[in-house]
Amino acid sequence: MTQLPIIFACSHHREGNSDYAASLFLDGIRKAGGDAEIVYIGDLDFHHCMGCLKCRTSKDNICIFAKKDEAQRLYQKIIDAPFTFFAAPIYFYHLPSRLKTFIDRGQWAFEAMNQSESQIAKLQERVSYACLVAGRPRGEKLFDGAELTLKFFLKFFKVALESTITFRGIDSPQDLKGDPEKCQLLIQAGTQAWERSLNP
Ligand SMILES: Cc1cc2nc3c(=O)[nH]c(=O)nc-3n(C[C@H](O)[C@H](O)[C@H](O)COP(=O)(O)O)c2cc1C
Repeated sequence: MTQLPIIFACSHHREGNSDYAASLFLDGIRKAGGDAEIVYIGDLDFHHCMGCLKCRTSKDNICIFAKKDEAQRLYQKIIDAPFTFFAAPIYFYHLPSRLKTFIDRGQWAFEAMNQSESQIAKLQERVSYACLVAGRPRGEKLFDGAELTLKFFLKFFKVALESTITFRGIDSPQDLKGDPEKCQLLIQAGTQAWERSLNP
């Protein structure tokens, strides 16, 4: 395996539940003999998609902001990675805004996919995993919007969102750390993801 898996930690603050979920998933990968890179999306600022649709007609569907921030470099990581993992809190029934801005900027890849542009068309099918953490203990549709958005976005890169671990009632920054069962689930998920990537 030449490129490392990418773990996106998507909370806007450090050392909370999503960061911990990301580090446990990494522990699981390492337990299986692998490694991965963690990207802290919440620390990054992206230009927001203007809906200018220049990416519909530009060469390689390039976005007007491609060279102005980190977003394009991160899409390339999704393209190159054998698998990805997203750990995100639920904010107002959805993904946090920096991740959502990054997702909106992925419109270029939607255009590329629709036009069968070679960069996307030549990709193998790959998988992604996610862990969504919500403070509320209840709420039937708590994760629906976030999961649907992530699934649709990843499809542009020929990535299928395989399974999403959802945790309710995890609110204070140390809540996940205090729940060994949930922690174990994340370690196991990391181990399984790595092992699966060796035998796709
Ligand atoms: C702006 C904001 C919006 C939130 N909205 C929701 C929500 O709609 N539903 C919910 O269950 N929890 C909500 N929460 C609680 C977080 O999902 C919860 O505290 C989570 O554990 C934070 O994860 P983190 O430590 O990785 O940031 C919200 C928190 C913030 C800061």
